[in-house]
Amino acid sequence: MIKYLGSKRVLIPLITQVITSLETQGSVIDLFSGTARVGYGLKQQGYQVFANDINTYAAILAACYVQADAQRWRDEAKYWVQELNQIKGIEGYFTKCFCRDSSFFQVPNGQKIDAIRERIEAESLPYELRAILLTSLMEAADRVDSTCGVQMSFLKRWSVRSYKPLKLRVPKLLPKATSGKSYAYRADALDMIEQLSADIAYLDPPYNQHKYIGNYHIWESLVLWDKPEVYGVARKRVDVRDRLSAFNSRRQILKALQRVIDDIDVNHLVVSFNNEGHITKDEMIQLLSRRGEVVVLAQNSRRYVGAQIGIHNQQGAVVGKVSHLHNTEYIFVVSPKAQYIKAQFPDLAVSLYDA
Ligand SMILES: C[S@@+](CC[C@H](N)C(=O)[O-])C[C@H]1O[C@@H](n2cnc3c(N)ncnc32)[C@H](O)[C@@H]1O
Repeated sequence: MIKYLGSKRVLIPLITQVITSLETQGSVIDLFSGTARVGYGLKQQGYQVFANDINTYAAILAACYVQADAQRWRDEAKYWVQELNQIKGIEGYFTKCFCRDSSFFQVPNGQKIDAIRERIEAESLPYELRAILLTSLMEAADRVDSTCGVQMSFLKRWSVRSYKPLKLRVPKLLPKATSGKSYAYRADALDMIEQLSADIAYLDPPYNQHKYIGNYHIWESLVLWDKPEVYGVARKRVDVRDRLSAFNSRRQILKALQRVIDDIDVNHLVVSFNNEGHITKDEMIQLLSRRGEVVVLAQNSRRYVGAQIGIHNQQGAVVGKVSHLHNTEYIFVVSPKAQYIKAQFPDLAVSLYDA
């Protein structure tokens, strides 16, 4: 899966354990799905998953990993990945923007991406198969990029992986879950809560002012293939400026989150948040306790890849260290089974009154 800021890769075993302790089966809404890793982990456990994200590339990842079922698409996906891997590169929009006018990818890989993307566009593929192939292309491109995990900038010196030739792999699809067919949506969370209901909701909203569309604009352009006008050194799509989310705004996030918490139609709520966001642990407890009894679990975690690499100057030399390399990831649970969860995770449960 792609490198992604705020991805819950390390926390997935804990999140799935918490959710399976609430209800052993049933349906789950993943309202801010990102890489779709959490939804994937839950579908694997047999849950029917409704994944949603505001960005198109994320909805495509979820259409592949959550919505598409292995028994339906495995063979066709294999055929198409082999076919697309044989295509010769061509010079096009992607190569110009992200290899010649900037240095996110080496030219031969950019040309390959152009050729594969044009071919996917030319075929009238069913939505789920198209999503599988676009996911495969995003992941292949991610394996040969020259960034430190976000697309706000590229490295001054080529990354070692950027010299490798781009190669598609077949995404590991899951069979349909025992609880029912899963679905992926692309919508603002505030609109989606009006339309979905389930046993459990998992919320992992953005935690600061940095918009995901700005950090992952290349994936959005690759998936939409609308060849937009771009600006700046990073060649961002111009609509990055206008696509806003209340969850990125310090002023609006409390109100937006309170609306989601109050209105979402589920029996249990599980929320991820870390101690680096706009919202403090105590504010989150206050927002959640209007809904029922709250339990907080805490786990220390390594910070995102950029923080591990350090602070660099314009020439790419390391000029400083980031102040801290670990943060605390919280999992808040609001549920009639809150006390049961506390008893199940005695080493992680924290007092609601800790500083
Ligand atoms: C912290 S990330 C989720 C990471 C995900 N749990 C994972 O493991 O990959 C937050 C996600 O919220 C999405 N997002 C931001 N604003 C949104 C909104 N208003 N409605 C729905 N999704 C939104 C972002 O695109 C981003 O993918």
